[in-house]
Amino acid sequence: MADTTRVAKEGEIWVVGGGKGGTGKTFITSSTGTTLAKRGRRVVMVDMDIGGANLHSFFGISRPQKSLTSFFESGTRLADLAVDTDLPNMSLITGDIHSIASDTIRFSQKLKLFRQIMKLNVQNVLIDLGAGSHANTLDTFLIADRMIIVLTPEVIAIENMYHFVKNSLFRKVKLTLKEYGFKEIVQHIWDRRQSYGIKNLKDLIDYLKDSFSYIRTILDNELAGFRIHLVVNMVRNNQDILLGTSIKSVLTKYLGVPILYSGYVEYNDVVWKSVRERKQFMLNYTATGCARQVETVVENILNGREVNVPGGYA
Ligand SMILES: Nc1ncnc2c1ncn2[C@@H]1O[C@H](COP(=O)(O)OP(=O)(O)OP(=O)(O)O)[C@@H](O)[C@H]1O
Ligand SMILES: [Mg+2]
Repeated sequence: MADTTRVAKEGEIWVVGGGKGGTGKTFITSSTGTTLAKRGRRVVMVDMDIGGANLHSFFGISRPQKSLTSFFESGTRLADLAVDTDLPNMSLITGDIHSIASDTIRFSQKLKLFRQIMKLNVQNVLIDLGAGSHANTLDTFLIADRMIIVLTPEVIAIENMYHFVKNSLFRKVKLTLKEYGFKEIVQHIWDRRQSYGIKNLKDLIDYLKDSFSYIRTILDNELAGFRIHLVVNMVRNNQDILLGTSIKSVLTKYLGVPILYSGYVEYNDVVWKSVRERKQFMLNYTATGCARQVETVVENILNGREVNVPGGYA
């Protein structure tokens, strides 16, 4: 997928994922996109939650006039599918609400979609992913310039998120080395990892780098952009906030990839009520703590910074 030439060179693709359903991925996509647009950026959001598309609901749109369905079924260009929102510099490509599963997308369609996403003439593309670790979901996550992970302070969300990041990284390693005829070797070593003394993905990557010198350069280059921006959503207390810091160290230890704890957003009933009222949250509830926290998240992502954690250092 890395061979695609970008037309909109100054543009950045932000992808929001996380594995578990219902953690607030769509809320964070919609509010992050709106925040960037409020700062004057040209933004388009793409709903890639095949089977559960609902990004339009966060913009008060109940029945989208155009959707990705036309891209898949009649080959309409992606750029022609953008629908207007309340901000002139922000548009939305709504999801395919007819499809029931991500695996209905053919490989060639996926590549065509990625090519067209990369050519969207905007400063920020924001992609909302569905739950789960389907190959199509992982591949979409991997085209990102900024990878955003949303999780909630609950055990299942943390576990799913860990598997999602691990699977994405493993796929990235395999796809990178496939070009050099190494894909099977990587899988072979991983399948017999005990006998190689490999305990986790970080060990595997270190093993590959140490054993094959030219692989080190390739992996260092290709994994340089694999940097996660972590957002903990629906926090209710300081303990929930601190969770971001511990998750960061776990992911660094076992996966070896850089993680930035970009911020947290508190639980507030106003969030789901705004969807019911068909009001975009970041345009109508700017005085809430949630809105300010989303702004901090965006600020931190843009500047590669981390959030200040109460009573500790992020
Ligand atoms: N910080 C919050 N406080 C209160 N409610 C929230 C918050 N964030 C999200 N919600 C609500 O939680 C529900 C799930 O959020 P959302 O749809 O964004 O999750 P998701 O991760 O996209 O789910 P799915 O995996 O099904 O796509 C929605 O009703 C949303 O309005
Ligand atoms: Mg969603």
